[in-house]
Amino acid sequence: MSNTTPKRILLIGGGSGIGHAIAAAALERGDQPVIGARDPQHTASTLPEALRDVPIVHADLADEYTLVDLQQRGPFDAVVSLAAASANGPIDALDRTAIHNAFDAKVAGPLLLAKHLHGSMRPGGVFVFFSGVAAWKPAPGLSVMATVNGAVAFMAEALAVELAPVRAVAISPGIIDSGLWDFMGDDGKRDFFEATAAANPARRVGTPADIVGAVLLAVDNTFITGTTLHVDGGGHLG
Ligand SMILES: NC(=O)c1ccc[n+]([C@@H]2O[C@H](COP(=O)([O-])OP(=O)(O)OC[C@H]3O[C@@H](n4cnc5c(N)ncnc54)[C@H](OP(=O)(O)O)[C@@H]3O)[C@@H](O)[C@H]2O)c1
Repeated sequence: MSNTTPKRILLIGGGSGIGHAIAAAALERGDQPVIGARDPQHTASTLPEALRDVPIVHADLADEYTLVDLQQRGPFDAVVSLAAASANGPIDALDRTAIHNAFDAKVAGPLLLAKHLHGSMRPGGVFVFFSGVAAWKPAPGLSVMATVNGAVAFMAEALAVELAPVRAVAISPGIIDSGLWDFMGDDGKRDFFEATAAANPARRVGTPADIVGAVLLAVDNTFITGTTLHVDGGGHLG
């Protein structure tokens, strides 16, 4: 199915996992995805064949100059920020630099993205920021991720008001089989996914396609702003 008016969708941190799935779905429906990556050459070398024609631009949420440069790539209908930097671990082992990197990826960087790109948004345009279920379902060792993901939800509310009529939406995924958990190995991942599925109301883990649907809803429905879409199988509930 193709749109009559292709949408220009910038995917910051879109060079892996869920970003690949959004880019593929955007292409499929006739939109124009652009991937923003810290290392465009490396990202190009790891793109699946179906995405080989998607432009890749330099974008590092910890480097404001790269965000200013993105203005020349506009205008955009959607700017989606998928980046995350892990700072997991018990409180006694927290590292200041890792905490800063986590905030740069999900909070400070996206705020600066909004600063530099809000003037490059087409009418009806939206910033989509990635949060995550850890904010609503805290667990030992995940305090930094819970904190930054929670901040993302409030950032979407604040920016929806400040940037209006440009929109701002947060997406909060649950556990998604995006490749992020492959480091656990087959057995570890299977056990983790089974435990996750048993504990959430949907009784399964999510797929990248589940998240793609929510992102495209946020892009297309211009009456959605200032809210968090929980796409977590109900995992944020008690
Ligand atoms: N998958 C899940 O189960 C899950 C659950 C809850 C929330 N989420 C959230 O969903 C989002 C996407 O997740 P995913 O599974 O697709 O993870 P992913 O594959 O690790 O994607 C994260 C991307 O962020 C990029 N990145 C990190 N720091 C950056 C920076 N400073 N500037 C620009 N890009 C940066 C990484 O690029 P590099 O190659 O440069 O490192 C990577 O491509 C994340 O925000 C994650 O927290 C995912």
